[in-house]
Amino acid sequence: MEVENRPLIVASNRGPVTFTREPDGSFTSKKGSGGVVTAVTGIATGRQPIWIACPMTLGDRRRAEQARENGEEFIVPEGLDPAFRLRFVLPDSATYHKYYNKISNPLLWFLQHYLWDTPTSPDITAETYDSWSNGYAAVNQMFADEIVSAAAALDEEPIIMLQDYHLYLTAGMIREKRPTAIIQQFVHIPWPDPDYWRLLPMAWRRAICEGMLGNDIVGFQTREHARSFLYTCEAYVPGVRVDYAGRGVIWNGRRIEVRQYPISIDVEAVRRNAYSKEARVHDRYLPSFYNEYTVLRVDRAEPSKNIVRGFNAFGRFLEAHPEFVGRVNFVAILVPSRMDVVEYQSYLDDVSSIAGRINARYANVETSWQPINLILGENYPRALAAMKWYDVLMVNSIIDGMNLVAKEGCLLNERNGVLILSEGAGAAVQLGDDALMIAPADVEATADAIYQALTMPLPERRRRADNLRRAVESDDVAKWFREQLWDLDRYAIKEDRDPGVLLPNGAGAAVDDLDERKAAST
Ligand code: G6P
Repeated sequence: MEVENRPLIVASNRGPVTFTREPDGSFTSKKGSGGVVTAVTGIATGRQPIWIACPMTLGDRRRAEQARENGEEFIVPEGLDPAFRLRFVLPDSATYHKYYNKISNPLLWFLQHYLWDTPTSPDITAETYDSWSNGYAAVNQMFADEIVSAAAALDEEPIIMLQDYHLYLTAGMIREKRPTAIIQQFVHIPWPDPDYWRLLPMAWRRAICEGMLGNDIVGFQTREHARSFLYTCEAYVPGVRVDYAGRGVIWNGRRIEVRQYPISIDVEAVRRNAYSKEARVHDRYLPSFYNEYTVLRVDRAEPSKNIVRGFNAFGRFLEAHPEFVGRVNFVAILVPSRMDVVEYQSYLDDVSSIAGRINARYANVETSWQPINLILGENYPRALAAMKWYDVLMVNSIIDGMNLVAKEGCLLNERNGVLILSEGAGAAVQLGDDALMIAPADVEATADAIYQALTMPLPERRRRADNLRRAVESDDVAKWFREQLWDLDRYAIKEDRDPGVLLPNGAGAAVDDLDERKAAST
């Protein structure tokens, strides 16, 4: 059967919609938030995927319980385009807390973004062990069971697409029950080198790698992260053979492909959203935050985004170039995130206090000017509206799987804005040539980059901005999905595939062919 026509099962921690229970007992739904949901929603049109997720709100939980009571096989949220068939896994709140707030965030997230201050943290204690077994592993098992039962009810073998770091054990658990399953997992965040994984107990890193090797294909944002995964498997999985040239792992009689699929945005949808009625509401008052020059950042308030250093760099820029004092505003649109995790709470405190300190130093009471303006809260149309206006977009993350803000900004900006981009962002691979690149810890160079951006001659600004916009336009999220399907077709669905055989020497040529085929399709 053609890969395009196979049923699709997507699984992610956060689902594509959230439900609210209305006073009359009925439920309304609205599109969920976050990069994963946006990306996968963008490509689901016409396929009616089955989507398996955890409830995010009380409304989700109630709707899921109602579906169970009524024996509904799927929840089909009304008025959503594209349409999904939704199934929830329902861990109790203690189990979910261990899986999400103790292991996925912060432990795995911090590890994969190199955020731990290793002389002091993390401490893996008896409590962490409990969270691993009775939280992370338990919820992964629930996902696997739900997916296996959804697959069993279908006439055709479905394609199962697992999303992200919450589900590292799921593929292995599915494979045990359904050896012929077609499974692909995409990791949206970085994959660090094997040495850093040593912060985890031996058995966990092995379980993570072996769980991932239950997939047919494992995908990453960049070639570097894919390579780190190969190294990690070689370091921690006994009996594994790694084919570095052909980018595959041979384990337990199967070959697992390891590839990169840089994610992007839905260009048309982002544009539509940015000029929608909802976004235009913000166009009316946002200019009161702007100045002769405007530096913008849009981020989840989250340590990997390096917001504190970004503010320090702005303070340093004002100190070195006092002629800009009063003429430039730094607008920081920040979305508080994962507020049940203590590390995130204290990071938001740090962000607020450094902004306060810089404002206290430079603000002018007479003109009521202050250099940093914080806008807190989640509002996607507002963020898109703001991106149309900046002179400088600061994306200085310590390390980032991709960073879609960089892509959205370059697409939408109408002022030939300059992108300051961290080398650690996956987006650097595609946008690096026309951005001002910085090392994320280099506060001095970031301050210089702000100056360089604000004094850049217009023709150069225009040339860079045009190139950046074209790069984003030619790299739509549909391509991200299409390439994964092609590879599934080529590697996972071939009936005559010999799973144990290494590609011959020169496998690189085969890989290059594939890369050419992908390039030709754009
Ligand atoms: C970011 C990451 C995704 C991740 C998501 C989870 O968007 O790029 O890889 O899945 O965060 O966010 P959440 O708010 O659901 O914890």
